[in-house]
Amino acid sequence: MTGTMTNFFNAMLPQNHNGHNHNNRLAVPTQGVKVNKAPSISSQYLATTSLHGQVAVVTGSSRSTGAAIARCLGEHGANVVVNFVTDSLAADEVVQSIRSQGKGGAIAVKADASTVEGGRYLLDEALKTFGKVDILVLNSGIMGSKTLGDVDEAFFDTQFAINVKAPLFLAKAVAPLLPSHGGRIIFFSSTLTTSSAVSPNALCYLATKGAIEQISRVLAKDLGTRGITVNTVSPGPIDTPQFREGKPQNIIDSIARQSPSKRLGEPEDVAPLVAFLASPAAQWINGQIIRLDGGAVV
Ligand SMILES: NC(=O)c1ccc[n+]([C@@H]2O[C@H](COP(=O)([O-])OP(=O)(O)OC[C@H]3O[C@@H](n4cnc5c(N)ncnc54)[C@H](OP(=O)(O)O)[C@@H]3O)[C@@H](O)[C@H]2O)c1
Repeated sequence: MTGTMTNFFNAMLPQNHNGHNHNNRLAVPTQGVKVNKAPSISSQYLATTSLHGQVAVVTGSSRSTGAAIARCLGEHGANVVVNFVTDSLAADEVVQSIRSQGKGGAIAVKADASTVEGGRYLLDEALKTFGKVDILVLNSGIMGSKTLGDVDEAFFDTQFAINVKAPLFLAKAVAPLLPSHGGRIIFFSSTLTTSSAVSPNALCYLATKGAIEQISRVLAKDLGTRGITVNTVSPGPIDTPQFREGKPQNIIDSIARQSPSKRLGEPEDVAPLVAFLASPAAQWINGQIIRLDGGAVV
């Protein structure tokens, strides 16, 4: 076994006589080792889906799925950082709609969430305005489309830089800022990672989403030691510009017919799940990849 593989497996071994294993962050409780009790929080608090007073950063939230998520978090009382790159008018509209509900606050921040620096800037702006970050929703992503014959290194690198590297480093940057017992990270994948209806040009897109699912599983164990949950929301087709790009209407219609209700998902179908996962009521949901596609894949 290679040294690196050995380190992975050592992390799962029972702890030594000092109560530590080789990698404390992935410690598995064993006989004789103290097991934690749930934090003493009232059951009323745990039942709540209110996000009152919490601060949420949602990447790519001026339009489409991200905008619906930002509005929904605002409706639940969160202060939301609405992130955009090009469409400042759309971002301002989302901010206004959150403020007009009178529950949570909102600001718009122009930052390229597909870069490590852009992600850091986004967090800095959140801290400057709201003083903390409780929830990070890593919604922004691209859906590149090339078959094995057409894929080149530049395309591969761009897909992985935007869909994997940027969210991973944004999660790394936010981790020390998140509160213990209550911090939330929510990644985005796609139901195509588990569907057999996979088209050849989904090669790199699905490779990036597969990577995200594995990153989220590992971080759930790692950050879970601090009571932070890390989950992945995995939607089926959602009617957004990213979904429609390059698809003829007859293909879109045939995809819509795959769900029992014969329609595509809408951003508003996805947002309530994100709000729930972000809430205190979801404290015991950790490391999960949750599909939502109206029953298209069962
Ligand atoms: N749509 C689907 O069928 C589907 C299915 C499964 C999974 N997903 C996943 O769900 C997530 C959302 O998808 P979507 O279809 O809603 O996406 P979308 O329509 O492409 O989202 C557009 C939003 O993302 C923002 N954005 C784009 N690049 C950005 C960047 N570099 N930094 C910050 N913001 C950026 C845009 O900002 P501007 O307005 O400034 O351009 C806009 O607010 C993605 O991770 C996607 O892979 C989508």
